[in-house]
Amino acid sequence: MRKPILAANWKMFKTRDEALDFIYEVNGNVPSKDLIDTIVCAPAIHLRTLVKRQGENLRIGAQNMHYADEGAYTGEISPNMLVSTGVTYVIIGHNERRRYNNESEQDVNLKLLAALSHGITPIVCLGETQEQYEHADTDYILREQVKTAFRGVKSVDASRVILAYEPIWAVGTGISAPSELADQKCGLVRRIIRQLYNQEIASEIRILYGGSVNPDNCEELMSKENIDGALVGGAALYPDKFLKMCDICLKCKSR
Ligand code: PGA
Repeated sequence: MRKPILAANWKMFKTRDEALDFIYEVNGNVPSKDLIDTIVCAPAIHLRTLVKRQGENLRIGAQNMHYADEGAYTGEISPNMLVSTGVTYVIIGHNERRRYNNESEQDVNLKLLAALSHGITPIVCLGETQEQYEHADTDYILREQVKTAFRGVKSVDASRVILAYEPIWAVGTGISAPSELADQKCGLVRRIIRQLYNQEIASEIRILYGGSVNPDNCEELMSKENIDGALVGGAALYPDKFLKMCDICLKCKSR
């Protein structure tokens, strides 16, 4: 049994006061961490504020980090800094960072290796563009992304990675991928992991779906066998919707 995950990606939203309002409302109301991992990936400036106030069951993640321990990289944040702040998860290779910050597959690989070596759980985003989708290139893209991301990752570490299939055409558009398609692509990612490692790792690794998940479509997506949880942007900015999706995800996965 893979423990489900509901992860919020706040992107560049929320002032300090708004972040505090969220955490006070959500803490204490999320289901037990024994049953589901609930994670809020917040802007870096709020990480310490949130870590200090995180309850028993909620964990705080970053949305990005540099792969170096330190250096002359103005504006960047290192894995060491995240660890010393109490952050336990980091999103790597989100399509917005790939697009607006020119992050390459190699960067994703280096960041993934750095996160693992610092004991931070990486949430690695994968997914094709609208154009690639229309050209039926999704499977090829996913294979290349997974293969490059896991280069040099040892078997003992591989199942610590969380993957998130996020078709770019579904992110922030209000139109999620059809649940069958999302399930099929998460299944493909699992098969790629099996080919790279083995059956045991493939059945342990957790693969999320992301892209316009909300409380209305969550159940349909989360009932799919290969989808172990969700990475949610817009809808996860609201405490009530976040909590509702945590409950739905848990319910679907405990059937
Ligand atoms: P969305 O974002 O839920 O707003 O589509 C998902 C993401 O960017 O991870």
